[in-house]
Amino acid sequence: MDKVAIIGAGSMGSGIAQVAATAGHEVYLFDTNKDALTNALKKINHFLNRGVEKGRMDDSTAKAIFGRIYAIEEIESLADAALVIEAIIENPEIKKSVFQKIESVVSDDCILASNTSSLSITELANAIDKSNRFIGLHFFNPAPLMKLVEIIPAMQTDKKVTDTCMRLMENWQKIGVLVKDTPGFIVNRVARPFYSEAIRIYEEGFANPLTIDTAMKELGGFKMGPFELMDFIGHDVNYKVTETVWKSFYHEPRYKPSFSQKALVNAGYLGRKSGKGFYEYSTDIPISEQMEIDHSKKEDIFNRIITMLINEALDAAFWRIATEEGIDNAMKYGVNYPKGLISWGKELGLSMVKGRLENLYATFKEERYRPSPYFRSIS
Ligand SMILES: NC(=O)c1ccc[n+]([C@@H]2O[C@H](COP(=O)([O-])OP(=O)(O)OC[C@H]3O[C@@H](n4cnc5c(N)ncnc54)[C@H](O)[C@@H]3O)[C@@H](O)[C@H]2O)c1
Repeated sequence: MDKVAIIGAGSMGSGIAQVAATAGHEVYLFDTNKDALTNALKKINHFLNRGVEKGRMDDSTAKAIFGRIYAIEEIESLADAALVIEAIIENPEIKKSVFQKIESVVSDDCILASNTSSLSITELANAIDKSNRFIGLHFFNPAPLMKLVEIIPAMQTDKKVTDTCMRLMENWQKIGVLVKDTPGFIVNRVARPFYSEAIRIYEEGFANPLTIDTAMKELGGFKMGPFELMDFIGHDVNYKVTETVWKSFYHEPRYKPSFSQKALVNAGYLGRKSGKGFYEYSTDIPISEQMEIDHSKKEDIFNRIITMLINEALDAAFWRIATEEGIDNAMKYGVNYPKGLISWGKELGLSMVKGRLENLYATFKEERYRPSPYFRSIS
């Protein structure tokens, strides 16, 4: 089986290396930081051993997978790889220079892929000579557990390269969804209202974070509410994604960042990792007792947030970012939504969802509440 190389042995690179080795490939793992490489191998070994303990695989399988991963210290050592996946720091200039170096080492038909969350695949592809071999392969964290891979051809990508990657992700037991190279791809675009509409409801003073989280978990079946999730992701990271998507869409009002999240970032209240975000973590009081839940508001909250999410998913379909099935799979397998949003909209009744948007629009007279033109094509 072809050899695969992973550049960057952090959270994502180590997980992707494990996925490729599990699928039977020999894997080269490279990082400029030796400690990162050592930690990645430890983490993979630990993950595999846990799999053995839980009965997911036998000991010899785990050892064989681990034995297929080679930490390399020189980039030249990956010369015979058929696929290189980059998962280094999210900086376009550094990524471009790393790809140029890789291209000088590998064979002409080696596929080069980036795991970037927010950069243009087309722009990265332009940095190398054979741009038609370049593609985005966007895995989700933790890569061994999350099934989704967004497959993003650049404008220059050869169709054969895209088809090869689609087949390969299937062999890796992943759900590959073909996505147009646009900011946020599917998941980081369609998920925006989960956070932004929740914060907006809170900023309007309609409900506190705990009431909003409870509504989304109890009525929507989401594993975490928006505020818990933002505290978990970190407000620095979540705010940055929101701001990047908003700027990349030329200030589209639906993606506008919020002042209260910016204030948390400015105060250093980054969420769990700093002991305080929307909730307190350096206290014995559990989150569930930190605020009063107003149960009478739950239904309105859930209806408003799910309406905005469905509208966002339909709008992604309208702009042909992916197929309806692809958009639904992305949210189910990339961020564990209990249902695909377009199917959810159909289940609730699209004319009712559209009616709710029209009411919001009539109330606020803001562009963010305009129904997607896609309602016309499917209702
Ligand atoms: N963390 C996530 O949830 C997530 C999800 C999907 C995609 N991504 C994307 O994956 C990429 C990596 O993210 P991460 O969270 O794994 O970051 P990370 O900070 O955990 O790991 C990045 C690794 O890259 C190494 N590195 C930096 N510059 C390098 C270079 N020039 N050559 C080789 N190695 C280098 C660092 O030493 C570090 O070990 C980013 O592009 C990010 O946007 C992240």
